[in-house]
Amino acid sequence: MPINKSILIVDDVSDNIVLLQSILDKAGYNTIAATSGIQAVDLCKEIDLDLILLDVRMPQMDGFETAMQIQNNSKNAETPILFLLVKTDESNISNAFKNGGVDIINKPFNDEELLARINTHLTLRAQQNNLAQLNITKDKFLNILAHDLRNPFNSLLGFSELLHESIDQADLNKIKKYADIIQNTSKNTYDLLNNLLSWAQAQQQGMVVKKELVNLNELINELVQNVENAAESKNIEIFISLNEPIAIWADQEMLNTIIRNLLTNAIKYSKVGGEIKIKGVINNNFAEIRIKDNGIGMDETTKNSLFKVLETKSKKGTKGEVGTGFGLILCKEFVELQGGKISVESQLEKGCEFIFTIPIKNN
Ligand SMILES: Nc1ncnc2c1ncn2[C@@H]1O[C@H](COP(=O)(O)OP(=O)(O)OP(=O)(O)O)[C@@H](O)[C@H]1O
Ligand SMILES: [Mg+2]
Repeated sequence: MPINKSILIVDDVSDNIVLLQSILDKAGYNTIAATSGIQAVDLCKEIDLDLILLDVRMPQMDGFETAMQIQNNSKNAETPILFLLVKTDESNISNAFKNGGVDIINKPFNDEELLARINTHLTLRAQQNNLAQLNITKDKFLNILAHDLRNPFNSLLGFSELLHESIDQADLNKIKKYADIIQNTSKNTYDLLNNLLSWAQAQQQGMVVKKELVNLNELINELVQNVENAAESKNIEIFISLNEPIAIWADQEMLNTIIRNLLTNAIKYSKVGGEIKIKGVINNNFAEIRIKDNGIGMDETTKNSLFKVLETKSKKGTKGEVGTGFGLILCKEFVELQGGKISVESQLEKGCEFIFTIPIKNN
């Protein structure tokens, strides 16, 4: 059964539309109708469609002109178009393909053939999208390897050479200094590599969500305890307010990563004496968790670049803490894998509030 597939039917004869709609509705598709090319072009600018059935012979704007306008100027430029053609209209068969059609459906329709052709093109489209997505992932992966993993290795090579020279000179101060730099750089690079691999694995659907019943109150308390030292070093107070016990079906490891990253960020970007508030509520079958700080906040440019893998940048914390710039990318990945959403509200110098949701049920 097709799930959530939207098909636009364009035909100037409303009887044809009614007939097509009844076949497609019965097969489980969502249908939208347009009775002219102009109406179809307008609809295509607004709605995301999976497939378009387009009559060729229409007054004012014919199907070919309509197809051209849809493909030149709309969010459905890549949506497959199947032309509806009267069987005797053979001269237009090659025109249909020349004008951007992926297939032809003959009128009068044969229900089974119609559904089979639609199914074929929807499957092809899904496979194309999948391939394109994998290609983007591969590009992103290589991009990060080229930029973010190359630099630390230059530093590791340079400082290990200096370390070597300092050993020859028996200069203990320098040996300690260079060894520290090498250790910190290695740790950071290792974190980045781990994050990068987790992200790549999640992208390739290699990451399975292992749902179990998680007690959110306990989990949050535990994670807050883990960051208490870091918070105390900046004299930051953390308040937890979960009005009721919240138990959700979720992947505990992923939840850990999400909350730990958001908490660590809140501490990292808070000033001495800051406050962090964690709130949890149940809202329409979703647990909604908010982590709010009154730290340095972020400008619009940073806000718009968050969660985008190609735009990752890492800013030092208020005590010079360094990071990989990958924490929020993983948070988004892990929230979405579990069927939730993540967003941020922030103003420069006023602080940040990260909000994420996770469905509470096991389905
Ligand atoms: N609570 C926050 N307050 C202000 N800025 C934030 C906050 N959380 C995230 N940011 C901004 O978003 C950027 C990306 O955050 P993200 O967690 O992805 O990376 P990071 O913290 O720099 O590195 P990592 O998480 O790998 O240690 C940060 O570098 C910072 O500029
Ligand atoms: Mg972070």
